[in-house]
Amino acid sequence: MPTLLAIESSCDETAVAILSGEPGQPARILSSEIASQIELHRQYGGVVPELASRNHSLHLRPLVETALRNADTDLCSIDAFAATSGPGLSSSLLIGSTAAKALAVSTGRPFLAINHLEGHLLSPFVGLGEVPPHVALIVSGGHTLLLDVEMPGRYRKLGSTLDDAAGEAFDKVAKMLGLPYPGGPEIEKTAMGGNPEAFEFPRSMMKDKSLDFSFAGLKTAVLYTLTDRNPETGQPKTEDLPDLCASFQQAVIDVLVAKTVRAARGRGRDTIALSGGVSLNRTLRNAFQKRCDADGIRFLTAEPGLCTDNAAMIGFAGLLHHFAGQESPLDEDIHPNLPL
Ligand code: KG4
Ligand code: ZN
Repeated sequence: MPTLLAIESSCDETAVAILSGEPGQPARILSSEIASQIELHRQYGGVVPELASRNHSLHLRPLVETALRNADTDLCSIDAFAATSGPGLSSSLLIGSTAAKALAVSTGRPFLAINHLEGHLLSPFVGLGEVPPHVALIVSGGHTLLLDVEMPGRYRKLGSTLDDAAGEAFDKVAKMLGLPYPGGPEIEKTAMGGNPEAFEFPRSMMKDKSLDFSFAGLKTAVLYTLTDRNPETGQPKTEDLPDLCASFQQAVIDVLVAKTVRAARGRGRDTIALSGGVSLNRTLRNAFQKRCDADGIRFLTAEPGLCTDNAAMIGFAGLLHHFAGQESPLDEDIHPNLPL
């Protein structure tokens, strides 16, 4: 059974995972390690690229050692090495990609350059092993992407965001509301005590036929609501926070669910797969599940540990490429704007 070591370092998480598997079978995650930099970047309210790459360099070697130890294996037993080659921050991508190439060269094993978005897209299928035709929605900090998937490697873009990504909208609105970075989980937590119908926020581009998204108007609507309710400071009143968060979150969810289901119907697909950091949101997952149950659509999403950036999803994509007999040249560059 082939074993693969994968490295993810596209943004602020350094991650290493070791997986084994066989074609068509559920992949086994033997270890999945993450050195999170969230605390470091929180004080700056977002990711600082130079700090991120410096910390990838510091964390990578110990993480590889821990991953090997926890998987009870050694470098000589690894059959292929994979790393994220894009999209992401160039100085961050370089660290993981160079490390994986070095490991491949030193062991004489193949190197696989993996698209981070393909990692997210395939993450709901790690436990299944096979990837049926479906409509995929990737919602992360950098992307909101709706795709038709015929099979691994055959992706057709149906829609994407015209401005902010869904996660970016969560992060920016959280910042406006004085909540810490990253904003998504904070908004979800605060929304728990709130009424999603308290504020009437816009559901952008719902009426036109396009499958694109736009969240900039929603963000502005939250800002105007803040200045309306507290003209002197423009700051939210503490008692408004739960309702603001719940109403904002619901507006995002309504658009994501409606457009994805519309896309599945339009493409004649009976499976929807949701992935990316925002897919951790329980209200979003529940809304998708409910709507898919009502419409007779199978709904799949990644397990929580595979939603935000991690190396196991890169490893699973790597395994599928490896099974297909692919390998990347060692002079394969990183691609900060790599499309899917
Ligand atoms: O996939 P990811 O880890 O990184 C990117 O590739 O961008 O996604 C991070 C994004 C952040 O914007 C974060 O606020 C959002 O996912 N996020 C959430 C939740 N947990 C993380 N958004 C909404 N609700 C959550 N529970
Ligand atoms: Zn990501």
